Amino acid sequence: MFDLAGSDTINLGLGEPDFQPPATILDAMKKALDLGYNKYGPTGGLPELREALAETHSSQADVTAENVLITVGATEALAMTMQVFVDPGDEVLTPDPGFVLFAPHIRLAGGVPVYYSVLEKNGFLPVLEELESMVTPKTKAIIVNTPSNPTGSVMRRKEVDALAAFAEANDLLLIADEVYDRIVYEGDHESFLGRTEDVVYVNSFSKVFSMTGWRLGYLITKREFIKTMAKVHYYMVACPPTPAQYAVLTGIDGAEEYLKEMLEEFRRRREFIVRRLNSLAGFHCLLPGGAFYAFPSFDYPVGSEEFALSLLKAGVVCSPGSAFGDRGEGHLRFSYAASLEMIDRAMTIVESVTEGPATTE
Ligand SMILES: Cc1ncc(COP(=O)(O)O)c(C=O)c1O
Repeated sequence: MFDLAGSDTINLGLGEPDFQPPATILDAMKKALDLGYNKYGPTGGLPELREALAETHSSQADVTAENVLITVGATEALAMTMQVFVDPGDEVLTPDPGFVLFAPHIRLAGGVPVYYSVLEKNGFLPVLEELESMVTPKTKAIIVNTPSNPTGSVMRRKEVDALAAFAEANDLLLIADEVYDRIVYEGDHESFLGRTEDVVYVNSFSKVFSMTGWRLGYLITKREFIKTMAKVHYYMVACPPTPAQYAVLTGIDGAEEYLKEMLEEFRRRREFIVRRLNSLAGFHCLLPGGAFYAFPSFDYPVGSEEFALSLLKAGVVCSPGSAFGDRGEGHLRFSYAASLEMIDRAMTIVESVTEGPATTE
């Protein structure tokens, strides 16, 4: 889709904010380079950063620096977790529609993705009865993602508790991807960390600090898991990037205001795009509770890929829902990590395209 896009195409396809990192972190990064933090660092990450993150999460769970592993983005944390825990033939429950890397990571480890549904009619949330019916002796783990990419759904206390209890009752490892934890529009983010013992909590600095290119994330889990995970992590990446760790460690304290402003900006865009999408004939869009994605369903006799291609030809990139799993079909994902002006122009183009299918039906 990106290759086909022209230079004046409006891109609402990307899963990354259009902001730059907080000034304090940018300054710290420049300083890190000048100070010579350009070398390999400890495999598990800078001890001070591990400690700081343990402290940040100490109200959720009884964790110390030894429970924290700094990774090359959430991507490495997720891929490495699969390599460590999943044996050939093991089944892993994963959301459909869900983040595009979950199933390939399971397969790369020799496992079998078993898709559970997170449908619009259920607020894009998992249904416990369905999950229970999917568990077999081969089920090893369940991946959960809140706030969700691509649906923007957010789990509340009730869902988090129910899923944690489900994982525990079925002796499953719970892999919780919470990379959008600071982008929740109403109420507090509810974490899986500390809700059950066998949890691998995955987070990242990519989205919240608009530093997707710096490749920095982390995971928190039991100390005995960390021992083995650190070995596989070493074989995969040697260590996480040193300058980026230094920058986050020294610049993070000045970033609270940045996070507040970012959330308010995303909130404005969310309300705007959802209103525009819902005003289109045949479109239905739930108000996302978190992240920066709108995931409308459409009532036109075309597949989501074909629909996305026709929007691309008209000048807007979005993602076909089918890219996120079979149950994403019938949806499009619009990332509102673009300026209000761009979203406005994009929605005007979408309006002009959707008038077509509406009359030919
Ligand atoms: C749900 C989810 N998890 C993980 C990632 C990967 O994040 P990172 O840049 O930290 O590897 C993304 C990025 O789009 C995501 O949407």
